[in-house]
Amino acid sequence: MADLVSLKDVSKSYTAITGEVVEAIRGVSFDMHEREVLTLVGPSGCGKSTILRLIAGVEKPSSGSIERRAAEGKFVVGYIFQDSSLMRWRTVYGNIKLPMEILGKKGAEAKIPELVKLINLEGFEKAYPIELSGGMQRRVAVARALVHDPSVLLMDEPFTGVDEITKEILQTELNFVIRSLKMTGVLVTHDIEEAVYLGDRVLVLSAHPGRIVEEITVDLPEIREPVIKTEERFTRYTKEIREKLNLLHPLRLSRRPTDAPA
Ligand SMILES: Nc1ncnc2c1ncn2[C@@H]1O[C@H](COP(=O)(O)OP(=O)(O)OP(=O)(O)O)[C@@H](O)[C@H]1O
Ligand SMILES: [Mg+2]
Repeated sequence: MADLVSLKDVSKSYTAITGEVVEAIRGVSFDMHEREVLTLVGPSGCGKSTILRLIAGVEKPSSGSIERRAAEGKFVVGYIFQDSSLMRWRTVYGNIKLPMEILGKKGAEAKIPELVKLINLEGFEKAYPIELSGGMQRRVAVARALVHDPSVLLMDEPFTGVDEITKEILQTELNFVIRSLKMTGVLVTHDIEEAVYLGDRVLVLSAHPGRIVEEITVDLPEIREPVIKTEERFTRYTKEIREKLNLLHPLRLSRRPTDAPA
């Protein structure tokens, strides 16, 4: 399959307000294959959001190169933001339509009912964000990112702040939506189970400055069923990621809880 995006030895540094130079990522290289979902997992501050902004082209690398190719026409991204904020004064329908207005795409509104159905929000088209649960708002953010037929769907921790039970349902729905639309995607998360459940390939990033410490190909069916999370073929991957993130070492506490004064 063709590569839609290639990052070669990309580094990015920021100059903070204090004047201090912060190296966010160092020497990151990877290719994104068409119709593949790549997940980036790593600790807070390791540069995950930075990588998405670089792919989107809203920021430029300090060194290295990024190539973008569109399967058809122009390279356009769909973006689910880390805070997934909807416009409070717009209805569900109005929020989903927004990227088309910004891009001046006319006539594509015909796609909205199909998307509303796909995200299970039929009947809520005229509702305002304040009338929706947190999970429903996340579904609207997914539809809004897809309405303009992007080349690549970029998802920045799309379910952060959602309760565990809703999150598990949304993950299965998102997998189904991505596969139904044959999308290429990059999903950023610090949730190890989510990285495996939604990814065809997982890139594990080190703590700040972010470097790729492991690439894991996830050999699971394209459509993920929730029960797979309980199977050995799944937990084998989550264990490998925990090892690469050094999470399986016993904590060296200076005082054990039993040493605590009575
Ligand atoms: N605009 C900016 N100006 C200065 N520093 C920045 C800027 N954006 C990001 N950084 C710094 O770059 C590093 C990586 O930030 P980034 O937001 O990409 O991390 P992240 O992995 O997405 O973190 P989180 O999981 O908490 O969202 C951090 O140290 C952050 O403080
Ligand atoms: Mg982030």
